Amino acid sequence: MKWTTKITKITGVKYPVVMGAFAGIGRAKFAAAFSNAGGLGIITALNFSNLKKFREELELMEKLTTKPYGINLTVAPPMMAEKNPNARTEDTYIEYINLAIDHGVKFFTTSAYKANKLGDLVHKKGYYWFHKCSTIPHAISAEKDGADAVTLVGLEGTGFKNPNQQTSLINITIGKKLLNIPIIAAGGFGDARGFLAALTMGAEAVCFGTAIMATKECPAPESFKNRLINQDIFDEEYYKQIYHFQLKDKSIWSPASGHSEKILSMEEFMREIIGGAVDILKNLGFNNSEFKTL
Ligand SMILES: Cc1cc2nc3c(=O)[nH]c(=O)nc-3n(C[C@H](O)[C@H](O)[C@H](O)COP(=O)(O)O)c2cc1C
Repeated sequence: MKWTTKITKITGVKYPVVMGAFAGIGRAKFAAAFSNAGGLGIITALNFSNLKKFREELELMEKLTTKPYGINLTVAPPMMAEKNPNARTEDTYIEYINLAIDHGVKFFTTSAYKANKLGDLVHKKGYYWFHKCSTIPHAISAEKDGADAVTLVGLEGTGFKNPNQQTSLINITIGKKLLNIPIIAAGGFGDARGFLAALTMGAEAVCFGTAIMATKECPAPESFKNRLINQDIFDEEYYKQIYHFQLKDKSIWSPASGHSEKILSMEEFMREIIGGAVDILKNLGFNNSEFKTL
């Protein structure tokens, strides 16, 4: 089945799926596996302390895939930047964007704090800017600032929590009414049903974070992956960190881990999501050769 959405149109990827940003592990091998499996792989620039290391990673990426991919720029909020002189502010990323563009990158995702200066730079060069945020008011601001798409992370997701954050269900369905730019759904997605539900709720793509950490190509240690696939998501100590805003900057996987039962290759993971979605559609009587949100 062919998948056509505003995000597959913009990016040229086969499936409407976008890789999350990952501090520590969002590097070329992992991102290339995601791109080669049909999604938009993302290299997280935060993981490279200088331009030389970043250039080497871009060169490695060029060897590993010919498919589209993007770069994430996680911008430190001012409170964090004040405390940490090495924190990444918008200004520290300018040369990273220029270098990535020299290497043919066309897609840039920003996150953690507003990044309109970087968005403007990407636009000036003629490329695309997707901003990630967790609340609809922030998404509306990103749209006003000119973002080409917004990734909306629901309360189910992992990462920084916001006291005004809504669930993925509300973010996508209400966001669809209030926003004109495409929405990429994030937060708690890890199976075919969730993927398909997000597209029917109004998203133009789905972003996977936790779920792809249980893949063979994810550079996290095997012990970490085993703990993730064995996570009891109904354990109180676990779920209060996800739903009670206690996550802060603690690294923990989201309840999307409830969908991960074994460690799969990225190809197998993608086949489960896309193949499973096709089966669901067929069971519902959908016999078209194309799933289109346009
Ligand atoms: C280990 C880990 C590291 C992450 N690092 C970042 C990061 O540096 N920047 C960022 O914007 N998001 C980061 N995220 C959030 C993901 O990009 C994504 O928004 C989130 O995982 C989506 O929710 P899900 O885990 O339920 O799929 C991270 C997530 C995980 C699990």
